Amino acid sequence: MAALEAAGPRAGLAEVRAAERRLRGRVHRTPLLTCAGLERMAGRRLLFKCELFQRTGSFKIRGALNAVRSLVEESERTGGELPRAVVTHSSGNHGQALACAAQAEGISAYIVVPRTAPQCKQAAIRAYGATLVPCEPSDESRAETAARVVQETGGVMVHPNQEPAVIAGQGTIGLEVLEQAPEVNAVVVPVGGGGMVAGIAVAIKALRPDVKVFAAEPSNVDDCYQSKVRGELTPNLHPRDTIADAVKTSIGPNTWPIIRDLVDDVLTVSEEEIKRATQLVWERMKLLIEPTAGVGLAAVLSEKFQAVPQDVENVCIVLCGGNVDLRSLTWLTDLSGKAE
Ligand SMILES: Cc1ncc(COP(=O)(O)O)c(C=O)c1O
Repeated sequence: MAALEAAGPRAGLAEVRAAERRLRGRVHRTPLLTCAGLERMAGRRLLFKCELFQRTGSFKIRGALNAVRSLVEESERTGGELPRAVVTHSSGNHGQALACAAQAEGISAYIVVPRTAPQCKQAAIRAYGATLVPCEPSDESRAETAARVVQETGGVMVHPNQEPAVIAGQGTIGLEVLEQAPEVNAVVVPVGGGGMVAGIAVAIKALRPDVKVFAAEPSNVDDCYQSKVRGELTPNLHPRDTIADAVKTSIGPNTWPIIRDLVDDVLTVSEEEIKRATQLVWERMKLLIEPTAGVGLAAVLSEKFQAVPQDVENVCIVLCGGNVDLRSLTWLTDLSGKAE
């Protein structure tokens, strides 16, 4: 069985449609919510795609389940055995999602997690019956540890954002948004490794090239922005810390060409902007998003977004996850002033 880490064919609309078929009845069709107060602040109509309500608490189950179901379908087709195990490295949400997907198919999962990952995410991975393997909080340590675990277990690597089946699975968000809100003019998507924004861009640009796709990224880890500016893949060699822990990672060789070709722009936001946007969603929408999910709203409320033409009226913001470690919220007391 081929390792799912290997660079595969670029995910296209056909792959996203196939993912939609595989995921039908297995993941939630999450709602699009609105908030008049936040619309007034943004000066545009806002549609919040609530992936915090998704199974496992984030959109990640879409890609993970598509990858695992693809492996199962392949073994059924070839009459071969199921993979011995699936392996990944993840700051938490993909790990949780892969553990859940593997458990559903009766496959063992080994999840390499940085020691610094939120406790609630680590606990959830264990609760899905997966084996947790700690590593240092760097891209190199993650990759090296995962490669060792693959060797030791004979498992199949499912990369959290470069695996084409993962990218295609995340693209189903784009299909749903177009169905739920055909009037949409733009979609704003937090970017880490780029699997989500790449998948969404593939789906949306194939079906509605007039709809803008924006990536939103913390300035502290702005590799996607730098890559777009320079026209070449420019990973974060020394990522700074960010409250948006799930997007601390860099885009990679499979997501970069899609982002380069299909993502209209990358908007960077400060830590303060992310914290304020997150707090606004809690207070105004009563939605317990994790700070990474505040990155999209932060971008839309930022000064830079004023440059986006006013005819981009209906803006969908992906609230990508809700796995927040409530004990880690000490930063709230550090915020000066009110949320506006
Ligand atoms: C909640 C959340 N949002 C956004 C992202 C970024 O997704 P991607 O790495 O596909 O860009 C992640 C990745 O872990 C995540 O968990």
